[in-house]
Parts: sequence; structure tokens; C-alpha cells
Amino acid sequence: PKVIFSGIQPTGVPHLGNYLGALKQWKRMQDEAEPGTTLLFSIVDLHAITMPRRQGTLAQGKREMLAALLAVGLDPQRSIIFYQSTVPAHSELQWILSCTASMGYLSRMTQWKDKMSMSTTASLQDDGAKTRLKHGLFSYPILQAADILVHRATHVPVGDDQRQHLEFARECVTNFNHAYGGAHLVVPETMVSPAKRVMSLRDPSKKMSKSDPDPLSTITLSDPPSQVSKKIMTALTDSTPTVSYDPVTRPGVSNLLELWSHFDPDQRTPAQLASDFITNADSSVVVRRNHLGALKAGVVEAVEAEMGGIRERYFEFLMPEKAGYLDEIIEEGGRKARESAEETMKIVREAVGLGA
Ligand code: TYM
Repeated sequence: PKVIFSGIQPTGVPHLGNYLGALKQWKRMQDEAEPGTTLLFSIVDLHAITMPRRQGTLAQGKREMLAALLAVGLDPQRSIIFYQSTVPAHSELQWILSCTASMGYLSRMTQWKDKMSMSTTASLQDDGAKTRLKHGLFSYPILQAADILVHRATHVPVGDDQRQHLEFARECVTNFNHAYGGAHLVVPETMVSPAKRVMSLRDPSKKMSKSDPDPLSTITLSDPPSQVSKKIMTALTDSTPTVSYDPVTRPGVSNLLELWSHFDPDQRTPAQLASDFITNADSSVVVRRNHLGALKAGVVEAVEAEMGGIRERYFEFLMPEKAGYLDEIIEEGGRKARESAEETMKIVREAVGLGA
């Protein structure tokens, strides 16, 4: 049976990278799922505490993420939506997997290496560095592997930045199955979304990221139309006045064309959009005068057409009178997810020798 699993950190309102790289894909897979397919989507609050947050911030972030998932169109009748921390088996399996996971592999993970080089130029031999770097960040990928493996997921839809973490999850299966002689855990397949990597609007060499300090670099699900428009109209491009698709020499313009393409109801490719644009420019005085301005206006329109309704539903789900409904979804989702996880934990405990 097909089991689709994915997760998202409740660390702020999702942006267009999260939407195109993950949520939109989740909704599509839900709508196209054959009968018998299980879908699970987890708001991974345990992953979010690798950075301590102010009291109340996490609870609020979880609510907002739940509202966002519902606004995008995930349907609790068809998809199991739950908070990671309500299923203790995720943590239990993390510990068990950590006993067969390789330290060397974990040390080579890019996310860890980036954090290490950010926090210190010295090596881990330096005691100061060892104190500043936290173990939770190091073992983060094991918890992520446990999320996936505990539900026997066969398919995991993510953006490109999660590829390495998923490769590690597959490695965890190999290590565990080898150590305990048998096909106990299932190897998950990575499904990278068509929008692999949505780039920052201020610096097209960086991915759009929740932790970017410049608010102009990201568009979130809750941004009002005026902000969506402002952020796209001020997006960093280049000084060539015409429109062409060339990700290497024109990353800013190409990022905008890619965005447009993902939102285009006719599903035109970025290159097609660029060539349609040139055709239009020849016949329109307005477009001819300001190519990039007209391109940006087109992107604003395409984004707004799809995101407008999502934003409206997002705020509706956050209204006080919906609180009870949201609680029910989380209650029910947690119950179903615990059932799903328990099936795997029986197999795992048996294999390890922890069974009764
Ligand atoms: P997170 O919360 O950073 O991101 C959630 C999803 O959004 C995708 N994404 C992007 N896609 C395209 N372009 C971007 N600029 C962009 N930014 C983010 C991510 O690839 C991801 O799919 N470690 C994970 C959460 C996690 C998880 C899991 C995912 C925990 N357990 C199990 C899958 C399976 C994370 O921090 O995602």
C-alpha cells in the first residue's frame, strides 16, 4: 500500500517556497490519491525546538501552520494532519535508530556543517564550539528519519533542500535492517516537487527562507495583496531591460518567470512565458516601454489569482469560533497517527528484542 508522508516546521507563516515546494504538492497528491492510499502530514514541533522559542510562540506557530494546511486544501477526511509531539513513537524510534546511525554520515550533513561553520571557524576539538553547538541539531536528521519510517512511508514529497535528509533516512533503513537481519523498515522514495527551489526575491542566489531577516525576500501566505505586489515589484532583477529566461546569467528575472510558470493556469514553461512576453511587447506600447515592470505586474496577477483565496481561508480558520474545529482535527489526527505508528513499533520492538 502507498503511504505518503511529509512534514513542515511550525516556525512562521509558510512562504511561497514552502507552498510551491511542499504544500501545493501535498494537496495535489491528496486529490489524485488512489483509494487505499494513506496520507500523513505532520507539523513537526519537536524539530522546531532546536532553536529555543519564546513562551507561547510555538503554540501560536502550530495553530497558524494548521490553518495554513487547511487553507491550502488539505482535507482532514482524507489526510491525517497531526502535531509530531502528540505521537511519542516518533521520539522512541529516533532513539532506536540513533543506535544504528552513523556519526560520520551525520557529521557530513550540509545543514550541520553550515551551522558549525557559522558558529565557529574552529573545529569540534575546541571546547567553546562544543558548548555552543547543540546535540539536537546534530541528531535532527534521525528524528526526521523516524518521522518517515515510523509510518512506513513509501513516498515523501519535499523541496530540493530536503534531499540529503531523505537520503539519510534511507541509510537509516539499511543500517537498521542490516543490524537486525530482516526487512523490518520500509525504504521511502523521495519526491522532489516541480518547484524544487524557489529563490529569495532580494538575492536570487539564495533560497527563499523563513529565517531570512529581510521581509522583502519572502512572500508569505498571509501577506495582503499590497505586500505581495510591493515585494514582487521591488524584486531584485538586473539592468537588461528585456525579458529572457536564462537562470545562469539572469537569475532574478528567471526566478520571476519560474514563479509565474508555477502559478500559470495554462502551465506554460518559463521559456514559453518569456517568448509570449516578447510577442506581446511588440504589439503593446505599455509593455514595450517597460518590459521588466510589465513582467512583474504579470507575476503579481498570477500569484494573487491563486493565493488570494488561500489567504482568505487562512484568516477564517484562525478566527476564534474555529478554535474548536481545529482542536478536533488535531485530536483525531493524533489518534490516527498513533495507530499508524504503533503498527511499526510492534515490528521494531520485536526485532530489537524489546518485545514483551
Ligand atoms: P521546512 O519546514 O524547512 O520546509 C517545509 C517544506 O518546504 C520546502 N521548502 C522549499 N521548497 C522550495 N523552495 C524553497 N525555497 C523552500 N523552502 C522550503 C522544504 O523542502 C520542505 O519540503 N526538516 C524539514 C521538516 C521535516 C520533514 C520530516 C520533511 C521534519 N520531518 C519528514 C519531510 C519528511 C524542514 O525543516 O522543512
